Amino acid sequence: MKARVKIDKDFKISNIDKRIYGSFIEHLGRAVYGGIYELEHPLADENGFRKDVIELVKKLNVPIIRYPGGNFVSGYKWEDGIGPVEQRPKRLDLAWKSLETNEIGIHEFMNWSKKVNSDVDMAVNLGTRGISEACDLLEYCNHERNTYWSDLRRKNGAEKPFKIKTWCLGNEMDGPWQTGHKTAYEYGRLAKETAKAMKIIDPTIEFVVCGSSNRQMPTYGKWEAEVLDLTYEEADYLSLHTYYGNRENDLADYLANSLDMDHFIEEVISIADYIKAKHRSSKKMMLSFDEWNVWFHSNEADENITKNKPWQKAPRLLEDIYTFEDALLVGSLLLSLLRHSDRVKIACLAQLVNVIAPIFTEPNGEAWAQTIFYPFMQVSNHGRGVALRTECSSPKYDSKNFTDVPYLDSMVVYNEDKQEIVFFAVNRSQEEAIETSLDLGGFTNPRVIEFSTLNGFDSKQVNGVGKEVVVPKSCNDVEIINNNLEIKLPKLSWNMLRIKVDQN
Ligand code: AHR
Repeated sequence: MKARVKIDKDFKISNIDKRIYGSFIEHLGRAVYGGIYELEHPLADENGFRKDVIELVKKLNVPIIRYPGGNFVSGYKWEDGIGPVEQRPKRLDLAWKSLETNEIGIHEFMNWSKKVNSDVDMAVNLGTRGISEACDLLEYCNHERNTYWSDLRRKNGAEKPFKIKTWCLGNEMDGPWQTGHKTAYEYGRLAKETAKAMKIIDPTIEFVVCGSSNRQMPTYGKWEAEVLDLTYEEADYLSLHTYYGNRENDLADYLANSLDMDHFIEEVISIADYIKAKHRSSKKMMLSFDEWNVWFHSNEADENITKNKPWQKAPRLLEDIYTFEDALLVGSLLLSLLRHSDRVKIACLAQLVNVIAPIFTEPNGEAWAQTIFYPFMQVSNHGRGVALRTECSSPKYDSKNFTDVPYLDSMVVYNEDKQEIVFFAVNRSQEEAIETSLDLGGFTNPRVIEFSTLNGFDSKQVNGVGKEVVVPKSCNDVEIINNNLEIKLPKLSWNMLRIKVDQN
């Protein structure tokens, strides 16, 4: 089958905010304990952080990490995680029916985030707590000195403030499973008043307010409108969350889910712009897609653990082992984020280590890269610069839940500093390669630097310890004819083509 893609320097969507390549670490399962931190591990550093995990996280080049939850944050007492470790209390974590030992708290996590070159997107508890505790936390983290909380931080070893810029006002407060679940009105009022107070302490910070937990929530739409109506002046970003799964083993339909992500983002933009108009505001609300991924493989096992073996420290929860087809969908979801990079300014792959994560660890053993690691790594490292709209004509198909699904899903990023164009593409066809003609418009003298493809695996192929099978390989099925690139994209494939061009 054949497809045509035309790009041009003038087809600019937006400068890409690098924070769309963010991720997420929650106190959940083995994300923290046994994931980033394993004191007894032979590769643990002086602070107990696994150096092999740090190296893998660095490869992903993650600019911001959301912390400490997630559902966990809605019952979290941040003060439990400061001061001498041996004096920290052990607590019941109601969100995941686990035991929280508090060995890792704010200081340790800020230290780790520096080691992986990431900023922290800090969430405050608006489930069981409120304005006062959020203000205390901010004073502890960001105030210079001479107050109770800032001096306690200094006493605890951090002379300089952490200067955390981005703050999430709660997590999934629309969800009945959330500790301290609220109506849109209750949450909107609390978020507004919390933001107002926090802004007095540090006027340089910015806020993410909770949107719906997913597009299927019964209050979806109405929730966004009511919350934004109450918080439009204070909020900088509205959050979106979504997880996909191939529960019915219908690959054509599964791979079309990035269309769902497109629709979701576009609907939330419409709602935000309606409130903008209602308020006659000049401010454009930006979006933080701060939880997205594939999540379904571990659902059954998780139910069993929380039901039959509750209150364990670091139980094996949400340990999805990802397949090749999951990697294709993750690649396609990244393209959806790029397509909407004019409004999506933060996004967090949920999560980073062990818990629905691209990085997996064996206790006392190796750390390894799941299938989804690779598309994320490539887009995060090379998808920096300006997102360009592609004029694309591709054959299409219909699936159970979607119509007009293009076999070819693609996006182009132009990195002006490097004079490099990067073409990212997924071929959703299970039968045929796509002969793609890429017309470079005003870009001249194209030279291929790298063509890498992930293809040729059984759709259920997974990676494992010492068994990293699903990895990209280089390919040379590309020809330059005049200013066009003729590229063969193999059936069921994720592709990245980097092209050097001349300045003009
Ligand atoms: O990422 C796992 C969980 O998914 C988070 O704790 C919660 O916010 C969402 O429901």
